Amino acid sequence: MQDLGKKVIYQIYTKSFYDSNGDGIGDLRGIIEKLDYIEKLNVDMIWFNPFFVSPQNDNGYDISDYYQIDPLFGTMEDFEELQSKLEKLGIDVMLDMVLNHCSTEHEWFKKALAGDKEHQKYFYLRPAKEDGSLPTNWVSKFGGPAWERFGNTELYYLHLYDKTQADLDWHNQKTRDELVNVVDFWCKKGVRGFRFDVINVIGKARELVDSNGENERALYTDTPVVHDYLKELNQKSFGKYPDSITVGEMSSTSVENCIKYSNPKEHELSMVFTFHHLKVDYLDGKKWTKIPFDFMKLKQILTKWQLQMATNGGWSSVFWNNHDQPFALSRFGDPVNHREKSAEMLATAIHLLRGTPCIYQGEEIGMIDPEYDGIEDYVDVEAINAYGELLAQGYDEAQAFDIVKSKARDNSRVPMHWTRGKNAGFSHGTPWLRPTDQERINVEDELAHGEIFAYYQKLIALRKNDDVIACGGFLPLLEDDEKVFAYVRTLEASGKANARKILVLNNFFGEKYEVRIPDEFCGKCRVVISNYERDFCYLGEVLSLEPYEALAVEI
Ligand code: NOJ
Repeated sequence: MQDLGKKVIYQIYTKSFYDSNGDGIGDLRGIIEKLDYIEKLNVDMIWFNPFFVSPQNDNGYDISDYYQIDPLFGTMEDFEELQSKLEKLGIDVMLDMVLNHCSTEHEWFKKALAGDKEHQKYFYLRPAKEDGSLPTNWVSKFGGPAWERFGNTELYYLHLYDKTQADLDWHNQKTRDELVNVVDFWCKKGVRGFRFDVINVIGKARELVDSNGENERALYTDTPVVHDYLKELNQKSFGKYPDSITVGEMSSTSVENCIKYSNPKEHELSMVFTFHHLKVDYLDGKKWTKIPFDFMKLKQILTKWQLQMATNGGWSSVFWNNHDQPFALSRFGDPVNHREKSAEMLATAIHLLRGTPCIYQGEEIGMIDPEYDGIEDYVDVEAINAYGELLAQGYDEAQAFDIVKSKARDNSRVPMHWTRGKNAGFSHGTPWLRPTDQERINVEDELAHGEIFAYYQKLIALRKNDDVIACGGFLPLLEDDEKVFAYVRTLEASGKANARKILVLNNFFGEKYEVRIPDEFCGKCRVVISNYERDFCYLGEVLSLEPYEALAVEI
């Protein structure tokens, strides 16, 4: 069993990390060139977004060959070299397995289209309803209907995402065997980490029926059979290697299911990625809206998940950012007036929770959403579709753009800022997505005189060296406080009478704030980490927190 609480994952979006050959697109050799930078962080594992062969309609999440590296990113030799160099640094590889769907360019789909009955069973092919309408009224997560005409036949195929991403029918044992083979192939190459894309939607109901407008997700999400399929995949592939680590990306899930997905007794996955805490700036649960974030809701969600997962033996990866989210610093911090302090506070709030932290490239130097001024700057299929839909709903161009700008996935996909120079030092060619703000935020300056990177190093070291943070329980504190997210991590210390306790205080706002410390926590203490370099050994009844201050003390 892995000690998941002592590990930290770093996510690399290869396309935007570093371009070694000047084609404007990041690549595997680019990552090799930057290993000295990665090494400094002291992370344990790198999750790479998919770099398998793909037409790139959804930036690699539309895979047409699971066994090869896309030439856009390099070769199998490059991958092997990267893997062996990472191994020397003590860093494991985590690959992104997109097994809910494959590209319509995949040979399985092509054979199905050519009439091969066996391969047709790999997909959800259905006739239109009697009245000629689509097989169901389901909507694609990228907008528009979830069905597309299957070649020139009378059938339609299901795609929960883009129309070039055909959902694979996991009810078919042959499909599942193929997918086991994919995972097994990479296990045999020594890969021990797997992130499973939208894995909780692999078990659609056997009978696909219309939704009533409210139950659509329930018709294909977290169905009981998902647990069976995961147990089977575990047993037949990665589970054969006790040192493997797996993360399931969970779309619109529930805590009950996530406990099951991640409790080691169930033999499904090591941990889950969930997104409820990132939907606190959605109006009525809708992504393509723009409102300030709801701090109390954020606290409630994080607290609920921490408590329930801890009580029931579940395990989460804790994170703010990934390639599908705008930078958290732009959403929940203050990138203009308090960029450094708010980046550090956000990092503290997440890194000291119970779970395995995952850091997205660039957050460790305080990167923020790019400053684009027109829809032409965005390339993501989801953003472009959303813009069109907002216009169709009656928003004017400026309003639609404003909303897209606040939520587009391209925000975090912007190339890594290495230097303040041309193209942020990312590429000698024309970057596929335009960096902005590199004069203010870049690796070179950050390492020379910034404070965020060094603060991340401290947080990572704490996780490795302090058992309370790595393995302790979680207790909420000051739940009604409207400015501070506070919690306590606790660990029964063997041989000692009292449990060890670490109190964590995060001021989520840009003003000074006096927080009342409950009596039981007043008294002698030791500073564990502080983003204002505080040094004191007594905690009184009232503590005046600085703007975006984060402080952890052992009491
Ligand atoms: C989740 C991935 O993170 C996202 O980037 C992708 O578009 C969808 N799954 C579909 O594969």
